[in-house]
Amino acid sequence: MSQADIQERARVRRLQKFLKKPPQLCVLPTRFSSVIDLIQVLQSVPSRSLILAVPALLASIFCASCQQNVADIAPLDPPKISIPPGFPQPFVPADDPWTPAKTELGRYLFYSPELSGNEQFSCASCHKMSAAFCDPGQHWSFGSTGQHGSRNTLSLLNLAYDTCFFWDGRAKSLEEQALEPIFNPIELDNDSATLILHVKRNSLFSPLFIRAFGSDSVTMTRIAQALASFERTLISGTSAYDAFRLGDSEAISESAKRGLALFSSKSINCIACHSGINFTDNGYHSNGLDLHYLDAGLENLTNDPDDNGKFRTPTLRNVALTAPYMHDGRFSTLEQVLDFYNRGGMHNPTQDSLIHPLELSGQQMEDIIAFLATLTDSTCISRNSFSNPFQ
Ligand code: HEC
Ligand code: HEC
Repeated sequence: MSQADIQERARVRRLQKFLKKPPQLCVLPTRFSSVIDLIQVLQSVPSRSLILAVPALLASIFCASCQQNVADIAPLDPPKISIPPGFPQPFVPADDPWTPAKTELGRYLFYSPELSGNEQFSCASCHKMSAAFCDPGQHWSFGSTGQHGSRNTLSLLNLAYDTCFFWDGRAKSLEEQALEPIFNPIELDNDSATLILHVKRNSLFSPLFIRAFGSDSVTMTRIAQALASFERTLISGTSAYDAFRLGDSEAISESAKRGLALFSSKSINCIACHSGINFTDNGYHSNGLDLHYLDAGLENLTNDPDDNGKFRTPTLRNVALTAPYMHDGRFSTLEQVLDFYNRGGMHNPTQDSLIHPLELSGQQMEDIIAFLATLTDSTCISRNSFSNPFQ
């Protein structure tokens, strides 16, 4: 049996298993998809009674009219955006309001091999949940045709708080971003006609589209909106550091506490760039990696030599899981990263003035690494609603 046959058989087995699962969710028929929006609007009203009573009432009314075709879909954990204490409301664009039904469709699409031209790769081939949606150990990820780019895969956690995407910020929304890997010949190498054909051919998707958008018409806009809606639910804010931030003084070690103090100190000042709830200022800096950058970063977009070697400050949440590091994945360990910062960069013309020799001792570097390790959120790398629905 050829490799393709083996894969096709495995795919059919997965689908059969998936379709056998008994429906448990009360599925709202299409015409009520706007009711989901209504429930969310009502849930945002700060009244306890409304929050509890209205969704229950609406659900009991509309469950009675569940239709067979949509109820055939296997149950998922009802998707939701769960916002950790102290986190702001995520950014959701007005023209793509967030709904559980779009999120559910987006989750299937994210893990679906239909997204690649050869139907063997998905977004999850490079963005793996177990590694905070990065590609562990890969400097550069390999796409569906075996080729690779020259940038390190970024984590997909807490994107709901970002307003620009990629290492150089070239995508301005998750909706815009989602289509790039699909068409990119070194990522999923697909085209819209083939993708739409493949998605339509898989009967699994029809009810998911109906539930999310009111009809089973498959369009690139709908695919992008569903993927973006799923990505907005990928939020990480329950690490040991968060427990400490919320008042549990025992949640992190003494070494990590010393590391946090160094990280935030005036002289070391990592926090000047890795700031806020998500440990990024969403700004662009050259942190002095090279004297002459092979990848010009932001300058590729702006053509401004002052932007040479500037990249978006990456989040440090879950950083212990996302090696290798930097836009080109040049460092394999956090020890190497700290060693680099301690030396103070290569002094290129665009290097940020905050990057200078730090004179940290071995123990101080260990302390900062111990602090960075407290940003690992083990719940978000095993959460059911983030995981592969085909398994
Ligand atoms: C071949 C591996 C690969 C595949 C497949 C892939 N990605 Fe990526 N992804 C990357 C790399 C590499 C980057 C960083 C590229 C850059 O910045 O130029 C990235 C960046 C992103 C970002 C930006 C994150 C940020 O913090 O700015 C998002 C969002 C994203 N990918 C979502 C997706 C989605 C959705 C899919 C499926 C449609 C997908 N990716 C498929 C490798 C991949
Ligand atoms: C001037 C702003 C700035 C300061 C100060 C700064 N960083 Fe960074 N950091 C960045 C940028 C920008 C990148 C990405 C650079 C690249 O890939 O070219 C980065 C990358 C990183 C990465 C790699 C993350 C990943 O996912 O690849 C780590 C870890 C890191 N910094 C930790 C630190 C620590 C620890 C300090 C303090 C010693 C620090 N940074 C100080 C801007 C800064």
